[in-house]
Amino acid sequence: MDNGPSLDMTPINQTSPKVLWLVGLSGAGKSTIGDALVDRLRADGIQAARLDGDDLRVGLNSDLGFSPQDRSENLRRAAHVAKLFANLGNVTIASFISPLASDREAIKQILGDQYVEVYIKTSLATCEERDPKGLYKRARSGELKQFTGVSAAFEHPEAADVVIETESVSILEAVELLRSIL
Ligand code: ADX
Repeated sequence: MDNGPSLDMTPINQTSPKVLWLVGLSGAGKSTIGDALVDRLRADGIQAARLDGDDLRVGLNSDLGFSPQDRSENLRRAAHVAKLFANLGNVTIASFISPLASDREAIKQILGDQYVEVYIKTSLATCEERDPKGLYKRARSGELKQFTGVSAAFEHPEAADVVIETESVSILEAVELLRSIL
């Protein structure tokens, strides 16, 4: 009689690690929170990896710009890379502006149950005030086109799994909150 797959075919670990997808404007604090979370997870002995828009755009996605089509492709590739990272056993922290709901839906389709949407919510005014890379200034002067929040859309996530309001939550508190859901 066939009893189906034998027990020794059962993977030791049935669940793949999550991908925390950090959504938010440039300067919202995605990378800072992502870095701090990865440090915290590693300190706890948890295998963790970080994937960041700025890094991916230097190499793998250097052929892409910031038109809606290019952002979609950037995010599609990023989601597949994140899936590979996670399936290798890493809790994966992905920081991408991910400005459009349709792209976030596509990412969710790629990642399935592994996807956890985290909205790093910071007002445009605060991001612009911080302007760590001087990009908002360049966008306002018209030198930089299609800049998210200034001359390109940012659709606020309506149903994020976690919302972190960086104007009232410290980096440490954000890390603790995200740590607690993993
Ligand atoms: S996304 O829209 O496709 O998700 P991604 O997160 O990869 O964007 O890249 C955003 C980073 O690219 C920003 O943090 C910023 O440093 C840089 N950047 C350069 N030009 C733009 C632009 N026009 N809009 C937004 N970010 C830009």
